[in-house]
Amino acid sequence: MKRMDNFYRPTRAEISLDALGSNIRAFRHSVPDGMKLMASVKANAYGHGLVPISREAEACGADYLGVAFLDEAIQIRQAGIKTPILVLGYVTPQGLAIARSLDITIALFRDDVLEAARSLPADSSKLKVHIKLDTGMGRLGVLADGSGDAMRFIEAALRVPQLQVEGLFTHFARADEADKTYTNLQHERFSLIVNEIRSRSLPIEILHSANTGAGIDTPELGGGMLRLGIGMYGLYPSAEVDHSRVKLSPVMSLKTEIVMVKELREEWGISYGTRYFAGAGDRIGTLPVGYADGFSRMLTGKAHVLVRGQRLPVTGTICMDQCMIALGAADAAGSAPVAPGEEAVLFGSQHGAVITAEEVAAQLGTIPYELICMLAARVPRVYTRGGEIVEVSNPLQAP
Ligand SMILES: Cc1ncc(COP(=O)(O)O)c(C=O)c1O
Repeated sequence: MKRMDNFYRPTRAEISLDALGSNIRAFRHSVPDGMKLMASVKANAYGHGLVPISREAEACGADYLGVAFLDEAIQIRQAGIKTPILVLGYVTPQGLAIARSLDITIALFRDDVLEAARSLPADSSKLKVHIKLDTGMGRLGVLADGSGDAMRFIEAALRVPQLQVEGLFTHFARADEADKTYTNLQHERFSLIVNEIRSRSLPIEILHSANTGAGIDTPELGGGMLRLGIGMYGLYPSAEVDHSRVKLSPVMSLKTEIVMVKELREEWGISYGTRYFAGAGDRIGTLPVGYADGFSRMLTGKAHVLVRGQRLPVTGTICMDQCMIALGAADAAGSAPVAPGEEAVLFGSQHGAVITAEEVAAQLGTIPYELICMLAARVPRVYTRGGEIVEVSNPLQAP
């Protein structure tokens, strides 16, 4: 059992491995039988920690791991994780040899990369690829626009002896919206190619398109594998998807402790620019967390935290490493005034009260995806199972 003794500031992100497992199981049960499940662990597993989350997803039976670029995949392999990995983004020709040697699957969509694969030295092992089609995201992928380019690219890839074309995929742009018109259009464009592959019995095993939004609302459009990202972390991709279909529990909470409490004189300024002045006798607590941790300065004047289950306003400008809170409601909630050392929750739950990542993201004018990805490396990740700490990751004190 790892103890919380390799960091010396009380700010930490608590990551519930129980919630992660329960979210994965919830999707397993809700998607059609036989549909594979890819755990999207790109961007440091959406801020939750690349290696620990990859390991847990593997233990929970994920069929694939998804990353954005090759370096992320290499880090997973270096940690000894054997589950198949797909690099969803661009891999340079220089990366092909190491991808093959580490059994990392890459997304293929550029002619020059296809040509580079033809020049790979002969080897008993093949480089696995999933061909990426653009059916209306306008980002990466060969255009599936009826011109025939997509089929020509697929046929060319199938003829390269160094390659094993294991999969074909596309990405939905609007699967998290209530109106499915555009998703259906993308699905139709993808299906035209899929049907041709099937009718000609081309040996491509995994044809996939769904992200979390489609996995919840339209899993029947997802093909052979769900690429599960935000839902695995217990967050819904939007308010518009049907939350009743899959029950999710948030995996990450951001917590700290009050490190100083003071009672102030009237008109005492708080923080840079003194945007806030205390009233006579106001009690203010200082939290050791700020915008360098990912608690954005743009939350100034908007954010709340939980102390003693009460919502307290963050007062004054959020600093790089610290911010202040008005303690009034929490003082009133206990028999003694709030003291240093008491827990403050920036998002997560406490004594039945909740501040959601969705709420904080909305205050920032963004989506929960960005909020959790913003959490800085200097915030230790504390992994829990059954209420016990099982691992602590703190890159600042890495051995
Ligand atoms: C190609 C691709 N597939 C799947 C996902 C997972 O998406 P989500 O987090 O919405 O489930 C992403 C994430 O953006 C992606 O880029």
